[in-house]
Amino acid sequence: MLRRTVFKVASVAVVALVSGPALAQQAVKIGLILPMTGPFASTGRQIDAAVKLYMQQHGDSVAGKKIQLILKDDTGVADVTKRLAQDLIANEKVSVIAGFGLTPLALASAPLATQAKIPEVVMAAATATITEASPYIVRTSFTLPQATVPMAQWAAERGLKKVVTLVSDYGPGIDAEKAFSGAFTAAGGQVDNLRVPLANPDFSPFLQKVADAKPDALFAFVPSGIGAQFMKQFVERGLDKSGVKLIGPGDVTDDDILNGMGDVALGAITTHHYSAAHNSPENNVFVEAFKKANDGMRPNFMAVGGYDGMHLIYEALKKSDGATGEALVNAMKGLSWVSPRGPVSIDPQTRDIVQNIYVRKVQRVSGELYNAEFATIPNVKDPIKAAKSN
Ligand code: DHB
Repeated sequence: MLRRTVFKVASVAVVALVSGPALAQQAVKIGLILPMTGPFASTGRQIDAAVKLYMQQHGDSVAGKKIQLILKDDTGVADVTKRLAQDLIANEKVSVIAGFGLTPLALASAPLATQAKIPEVVMAAATATITEASPYIVRTSFTLPQATVPMAQWAAERGLKKVVTLVSDYGPGIDAEKAFSGAFTAAGGQVDNLRVPLANPDFSPFLQKVADAKPDALFAFVPSGIGAQFMKQFVERGLDKSGVKLIGPGDVTDDDILNGMGDVALGAITTHHYSAAHNSPENNVFVEAFKKANDGMRPNFMAVGGYDGMHLIYEALKKSDGATGEALVNAMKGLSWVSPRGPVSIDPQTRDIVQNIYVRKVQRVSGELYNAEFATIPNVKDPIKAAKSN
């Protein structure tokens, strides 16, 4: 009798063990962690909208698995990102963590991805070293050096001699400053560097220094969403009438806010991987569908990072036959596709995205301000890691 009861209890336990993971296998949960509120909410809003558009267009079933998205708002604070990532991994049993609107947020979660052996898909953050923080990080945004070195080359070729750089004082800003200064001085130019605090920035005193220095150009990096504030103070300091050219990576003339900046932005030259004005069949379809699904909101480079991040997850799941963990990260390496931004691939060594960088000028097109692309540097790798591997 006792033996029989024990057998019964044991068999119930076995059934529970088998059916638990077997059921869980039917779903692939993606934990999407974004700043949906706070100063960087535009990044969250853009990426969330793009991820949802991708799922709407491609369905929620891949390689026999149901894709389940769980969105969490980290408010742009690294401690919150880390706590949310921990909870998503331990309690929700997500197979992927994705999003990461700022560098400190991506870095805070890196050890958790390593420990859980699941991919961390970085859709926004862009400091070059991020992918070195975990072998499980794969990035679909860009790196600041990748976008910036072509700007220095353009400036030197156009005969600019003296440039002041003004950057937000944290990872991507310092990357942009160093990449620009290194390449521009190597080409014979002269550079002065200014750094502005990331939190609650007051650009005015720094812009006054720029006005006093009278350089040929001001090279500016501020994170996505902050450019409008920067431009307002640029005008208040009279820099729009000073003959100082505005140049930089394209974050400052971000498509989300560009049209609201007014004529002051006209003529700004930037280098970046995405413009809503990119003329290709893939982008025309993407922009139209994005606007339609989001009350006319124009997609920016953050949106395309989110859209491609989802594409990467879907295609890697197909390649791994639905397997997750290490197999999913491995399946991501070397994938290539045609994105709304142009042709892209995931560098299998660095897990960074290889992509075209476009030189653009702010122009009025059909009554709206756009970053109009006029030159292309094809297949650019992150130059920091490319230099290390040589
Ligand atoms: C980062 C954030 C941004 O909004 C941006 O435009 C570029 C880089 C970052 O924190 O890595």
